[in-house]
Amino acid sequence: MHIALLGPCGAGKGSHAAKLATRFEMLHVVSGELFRANLEKRTAVGLLARSYMDRGELVPDDLTEAMVEERLARPDTQAGFVLDGFPRTLAQAEALSDILAQQHRQLTSVLYISVVDQEIVTRLAGRRICRNCQAPYHLTFKPPAQAGICDVCGGALEQRADDNPATIRARLKTFHAQTAPLIQYYKAAGLLLEIDGQGEVAVVKERTAAAARRLLYP
Ligand code: AP5
Repeated sequence: MHIALLGPCGAGKGSHAAKLATRFEMLHVVSGELFRANLEKRTAVGLLARSYMDRGELVPDDLTEAMVEERLARPDTQAGFVLDGFPRTLAQAEALSDILAQQHRQLTSVLYISVVDQEIVTRLAGRRICRNCQAPYHLTFKPPAQAGICDVCGGALEQRADDNPATIRARLKTFHAQTAPLIQYYKAAGLLLEIDGQGEVAVVKERTAAAARRLLYP
């Protein structure tokens, strides 16, 4: 399966994509994570991307598309992938379709996780991420067993630089202006499956898994 996850920041894309990838043995590719890894290594791509990420804006299409194209060309994507955070513009959607066509593949489906803006602010303000393995936690909704420590790998939990109120508002604005048009685009292409992202994490997880099962066993 070649799945793309669409949704505003904090919708739960990362949480559910990771579970889907494990359950259905696919690779989890996160565009934001590719940028953060570049930033950690202080590459030119990472340093340029940072200025956009800090403002809650999208990194320019050409840079993002080249980075994703390089990642999808690697052999570990052959078993299938869950693309988390890409595409986010109509130009990126068209680029993705070209990239996959060149690799003799196509998108199986786009899962759109919908959540209202007010809920997003609460989720992101309380989010903590493992510095080591990137597992997401929430101070209220998904606390770690031991405060500040990752349950999975024992790494330290930290708050992402763009999870502050002003940048969260900017990211939501960017989503509505530039990414939301993809909902209609993929609906028209017959690829969109909408998942209600509100409710307890376990409930949304089951909705997402059920959607993936419908794709695998139509
Ligand atoms: P990216 O890293 O992709 O961030 P994002 O899209 O803003 O998404 P998030 O990671 O913030 O949220 P999520 O939906 O994964 O939610 P999560 O599962 O963590 O992108 C960062 C930046 O990189 C962008 O702003 C942009 O600048 C750049 N970028 C990336 N891709 C790009 C592209 N294609 N083009 C251009 N630029 C690009 O959950 C959030 C929190 O809520 C967690 O704490 C979680 O525990 C909690 N939670 C999850 N589900 C529930 C639930 N049901 N109930 C209660 N809490 C929940």
